[in-house]
Amino acid sequence: MRRDSAKPVIKKGPPGPNGRKWVSLHHKYGATTTHAFPFVWDITKPAAGPFCTDPDGNVFMDFNCNVASSPFGYNNPGVISAIKEAGFVDPVKMAGQDFYLATGKDPHNSLEIVANLQERIIKISKPLGLKRVFLSNSGAEAVENAIKLCYARGGSYAFTFLGGFHGRTLGALSLNRSKAVHRRGYPAISKVVELPYCKCKTHCVCGWRIYKKELGREVTALEEMVDKNVGKIDPREGAFIIVEPVQGEGGYNIGNKEFMSDLNKLSKKHKIPIIADEVQSGVGRTGKWWASEHFDFEPSIISAAKALRVGATIGKEEMFPKEQGRISSTWGAGDIYNSIVACKTLEIIEKQNLLKNAEKMGSYYVKRLKELGEKYPEKVVEVRGLGLMDAIEFSSRDDREKVEIECFKKGLITLGCGYRTLRLLPPLDVRTRELDISVEILEQVMKKL
Ligand SMILES: Cc1ncc(COP(=O)(O)O)c(C=O)c1O
Repeated sequence: MRRDSAKPVIKKGPPGPNGRKWVSLHHKYGATTTHAFPFVWDITKPAAGPFCTDPDGNVFMDFNCNVASSPFGYNNPGVISAIKEAGFVDPVKMAGQDFYLATGKDPHNSLEIVANLQERIIKISKPLGLKRVFLSNSGAEAVENAIKLCYARGGSYAFTFLGGFHGRTLGALSLNRSKAVHRRGYPAISKVVELPYCKCKTHCVCGWRIYKKELGREVTALEEMVDKNVGKIDPREGAFIIVEPVQGEGGYNIGNKEFMSDLNKLSKKHKIPIIADEVQSGVGRTGKWWASEHFDFEPSIISAAKALRVGATIGKEEMFPKEQGRISSTWGAGDIYNSIVACKTLEIIEKQNLLKNAEKMGSYYVKRLKELGEKYPEKVVEVRGLGLMDAIEFSSRDDREKVEIECFKKGLITLGCGYRTLRLLPPLDVRTRELDISVEILEQVMKKL
């Protein structure tokens, strides 16, 4: 498949008869999860960049990138060659927190694997003062370990934000405030305090900044919560603040600059560590390695996964316990295949200057989407984005769903988030031509709403 001439082509379905066979086998034994629509990628068929093929020969343009977890789309030549160089081995995962992996005599002159990945992660995180990393298997595990590191240092209160999403394991789940279905009926860790996530444009109306009569001034909700006169919590009991610099699942909401700076100041003042959950926003998606870097904001820990291909809890040196066995995981640092792919991913982003591409293409895309939104003011509430983490908020959930499904039928993969928002996540090496194709399809669909 030639990426520079490929385009979405739907011949049968989707899904066509072959795709339907795979979907129905999947449904026969697989638990019901979140499957949005029946998109089937056939790994044996041609794919390049955002383009991939299903078992009926339909070509899709994937602007969801597996929810940000395939940062270059499909079959990136650099990634494929690293996988080929590694060859097939058995086991493909080893107990990497107990033992070590090598690919030759010299770690700096061999195929990069786990130790190199740790080195690369710290290289990109050092500007934020983060110097140590713990690898795991998923975003939820990265969050789970982040909160454990904080609890281990003391404090019992967790501060989380409305609209936040942090994963599905019980600890991470307790911090979610996006959709009721995620948490309903499941037990939660105690002492989780929820606060407004401020994305206000000018004057704050979300409740983050309030005028407090007793104090005779405007305060933030967190400041009020831990104030020694009017507060409800002693700040010395604060274990951590967890926040997504750009909320993912909750609706692609971009944190207000002042809000992020407020958090930073309060964290420093009261010595409550901040966990920046960058599972979705990290690894170049927003045009910087970490979305945190867009703000006056210095997290003590970043949780990462998705585009990184493995889970990672990245923190300041003092956040990690020295005692052996306090944190561990069988496969965490032992995923041979994914750590090789992760090293290559970071190398490609750096060598191909993809942070710049994400920034440049992101502004072009948001501009084009805004122009499109302006044509349908009764349907589109807002277009927003940071780099290539972009979204269209519709005026109703129904419209969002129609657009998602109709785009799929025309071969453009997108994905909903929040209640009425459509997220758009092109690959980090996306080209203008591909962005234009997506705008054309969105326009055809929106015209018919
Ligand atoms: C911000 C954020 N944190 C955590 C997670 C959980 O990651 P995983 O599904 O890999 O456990 C997600 C997944 O969507 C996420 O977006």
